[in-house]
Amino acid sequence: MRLIFSLASIFLATGVHAQSLTLTSPDGQLVVVVSDDNNQPTYQVSLNDKLLIDNSRLGLAFKQQGEYSQGFNIAKSTRSRTNTTWVQPWGEQKTIRDNHQQMTVKFGRGEQHFSVNFKAFNDGVGFRYEVAKQPNMGESVDIVNEYTEFVIDKGDKAHAWWIPARGWNRYEYIYSSTPLHQAAHVHTPFTVKHASGVHLSIHEAALVDYASMTLNQRRNGTLKADLTPWSDGVLVKKKAGFTTPWRTIQVAKTAIDLVNSNLILNLNEPNKLDDVSWVKPGKYVGIWWGMHIGENTWGSGDKHGATTNETIRYMDFAAENGFDGVLVEGWNIGWDGSWFHNGDVFNFAKPYDDFDLAKVAKHGKSKGVRLIGHHETSGSVTNYREQMDAAYDLYQAHGVTQIKTGYVADGGDIKRVDENGITRHEWHDGQFMVNEYLHSITEAAKRNISINTHEPIKDTGLRRTYPNWISREGARGQEFNAWGTPPNPPEHIATLAFTRMLAGPMDFTPGIFDLGFNGLEGVNRPQTTLAKQLALYVVLYSPIQMAADLPRNYLAKPKAFQFIKDVPTDWQQSIALDGEVGEFVAIARQQRDSQDWFVGAVSDKHARELTISLDFLTKGKQYQAQIYRDGSKANWKSNPYDMVIENKMVAASDVLTIKLATSGGVAIRFKALD
Ligand code: NOJ
Ligand code: CA
Repeated sequence: MRLIFSLASIFLATGVHAQSLTLTSPDGQLVVVVSDDNNQPTYQVSLNDKLLIDNSRLGLAFKQQGEYSQGFNIAKSTRSRTNTTWVQPWGEQKTIRDNHQQMTVKFGRGEQHFSVNFKAFNDGVGFRYEVAKQPNMGESVDIVNEYTEFVIDKGDKAHAWWIPARGWNRYEYIYSSTPLHQAAHVHTPFTVKHASGVHLSIHEAALVDYASMTLNQRRNGTLKADLTPWSDGVLVKKKAGFTTPWRTIQVAKTAIDLVNSNLILNLNEPNKLDDVSWVKPGKYVGIWWGMHIGENTWGSGDKHGATTNETIRYMDFAAENGFDGVLVEGWNIGWDGSWFHNGDVFNFAKPYDDFDLAKVAKHGKSKGVRLIGHHETSGSVTNYREQMDAAYDLYQAHGVTQIKTGYVADGGDIKRVDENGITRHEWHDGQFMVNEYLHSITEAAKRNISINTHEPIKDTGLRRTYPNWISREGARGQEFNAWGTPPNPPEHIATLAFTRMLAGPMDFTPGIFDLGFNGLEGVNRPQTTLAKQLALYVVLYSPIQMAADLPRNYLAKPKAFQFIKDVPTDWQQSIALDGEVGEFVAIARQQRDSQDWFVGAVSDKHARELTISLDFLTKGKQYQAQIYRDGSKANWKSNPYDMVIENKMVAASDVLTIKLATSGGVAIRFKALD
């Protein structure tokens, strides 16, 4: 393919030599212009001549070397073209196309220089800084500012969906839907809809050994990178010769094309773990929801959930119903008292007296069910780090291949004891924790263990490089419906699909069947219909999915339970079919190495009619559609269980029209017939 290349040199009246370089996406629609006008490195992005990101500043500032931004001019540029595919060991899409044009622009001022590497894909743009070793740069480089801007819309016409950054509850906030200019300081992925209808998501890819980028709105429409600092105020501590994570701008003509983008994964490095056949997607149950609704406790006593007998009961239930894992929380010493605040007393090797690790692990093996490990740190990461080797060894010795980790602590309150024995408090998304989370992944990988991180660092696509980072939380999950004030609102899932889920898999823990554990009028309950709980398994992608409710609640609704038994967690391909941010979404996924398809769709507080064209099915093939939809009288508030299960013969040429109730949903299995 022809390299599209243009270089314009403009001699200004002042005699200053300003340049601009243009990089175009392979389909020619997205255009990035990099310039050093006024000796200031900037970039801008447009789609079919429509300016989406206006001139936005680039550059960094170092404690030792000062500013690398103003006064720097384009010194050199190199280009390349890539069009390949690669395969995910597990995922929402088996084969991913990486099709982009690349341009590295070197900016210099005397002997000082830095480069910005841009990649233009059809679905967006990524760029990162590359700061090579240079004569005037010592070994230690402390970043004290990143000037990167995203000048989105000065006209106040854009709309945004966001959660606040640097808050006490990390990423676990209800999304705000506001005019763009009200988004003061936000996390990424940050979703914006232009007046033109074009959707953008600003995020980052491959966040490794760097602070997380949050966005701070300066003048209206100008979002500036705001890196989460260390406890001593430095933003990032590097050694000379480094690259930053990719700053990403997904660009989509419609909301669903944000979901259909693979930009984040394409900007991550390939698998570094070689053979990862030991990483297993799957479905699990666990000793979990009982604690959240107050029926059990994590700590010892009469209501202790994690007992040997209870674990065996769950393992038998799992084996009978086709689940391959049982999560057990509260098995180890340390939960008694205020476990939120007592992270230092967690012991990751010592079970409570009523939990026999060897016995349950052996029982699981005999039933073909894995014990899923659990390590809650309550944010005391030094305590965890000191025990990590032994704790992972212990689980490995008992055949545990997956561990859920937890970092419950207020934002800014991660406790670390430094090399001098002084206690420091860090953010979950600062560089220290970015490294700490990844350390747990690489240590676990050495033992063929996968990790599902709760209270994590946000996902930036590192599952490509470390496929044992199997899932994570990083948003308000189902647990908020048990005790959150308030619980997740009806629009939550239709917002997550276009925000948090753009980052990667989420362990939301779907499938609550008893929606009225406090009575249907109770404040805390899932604000959904039963059909919507089923739809979550398809809408919210994760290679591991929990059936989160208590076994007795599944046994009480065996017909609805059948969908959870049937739905897979590993896919050949995924297609977002229809949707608008925060209103509704419909997603189709083809089971991996199978002809069967599944569809999930959810609505916000409005009832609506959905038209689904089945043209994703294989032409000429017949399918049995097993449909789980809201009944005609269903509504989430007073009649959430009204659900119709019906079978229909369908083909690719058919169109289904389905009614979704208020906060309703639909889940469909398309079983291919020979
Ligand atoms: C918060 C996690 O999100 C939840 O799933 C877990 O049960 C508790 N922490 C205890 O570790
Ligand atoms: Ca949580």
